[in-house]
Amino acid sequence: MEANNSDGGGSPETPATENMTTISHHYFGESNGSDDAISITVIESMKEDYGLFVWPCSIILAEYVWQQRSRFQGVSVVELGAGTSLPGLVAAKVGADVVLTDDSDRLEVLDNMRRVSELNNIKCEVMGLTWGVWDESIFSLRPQVILGADVLYDSSAFDNLFATVKFLLEKSPGSVFITSYHNRSGHHLIEFLMVKWGLKCVKLLDGFSFLPSWKASGLSGNIQLVEIVLSDVAKN
Ligand SMILES: C[S@@+](CC[C@H](N)C(=O)[O-])C[C@H]1O[C@@H](n2cnc3c(N)ncnc32)[C@H](O)[C@@H]1O
Repeated sequence: MEANNSDGGGSPETPATENMTTISHHYFGESNGSDDAISITVIESMKEDYGLFVWPCSIILAEYVWQQRSRFQGVSVVELGAGTSLPGLVAAKVGADVVLTDDSDRLEVLDNMRRVSELNNIKCEVMGLTWGVWDESIFSLRPQVILGADVLYDSSAFDNLFATVKFLLEKSPGSVFITSYHNRSGHHLIEFLMVKWGLKCVKLLDGFSFLPSWKASGLSGNIQLVEIVLSDVAKN
């Protein structure tokens, strides 16, 4: 995880110093007043909390969802480690049925998701979902698409994350996990995890390859985006 002060996809407003929050606006589509464009407003916090900042991986995954929007219409989506939830909010805006999730213990992050959904006039379910924990609520989920932006940053959590991903993929045949992450060791890490968990990559992209230049210029790093499915499904 690498923060980027000049949030490439958003235009920040001056922070309200009392509660340390700031509002950023994120634009998708043509900026020439075309009908085929949306914007999402996000509440971020200056306080140190991973879940209250729009990370670069999130800008990249949200742009990918936007560019693939026809694929998301009427589809059930779960975003894991959603934090400020930009990809999930874009998915909801283009017609997906979205559940935004984050660590069950991070109530401030979950509250912020509700506030941001309301702010954007978007109906999303918000749910505490801690990776590797099997609370009752996870059994009700049947996502066709699982999203995760910058959820591969703490190696001690990788197995719990992949256990949750595998569980959700198995619950919903034909489903896919789409994640964007900072690539520090080639594709080896992801490959290792996929083999270990019986998963397979069906698409691997350089995160900057599809990002409009005006967004890319504000971001840095080596960010990849992968689509992952159950390996036995990929063989068919
Ligand atoms: C680097 S932030 C990314 C946030 C957001 N997806 C983005 O890219 O802007 C990682 C997110 O994962 C969440 N997270 C960390 N560990 C978690 C766990 N064990 N279970 C569920 N969520 C977790 C954090 O609360 C945080 O929102």
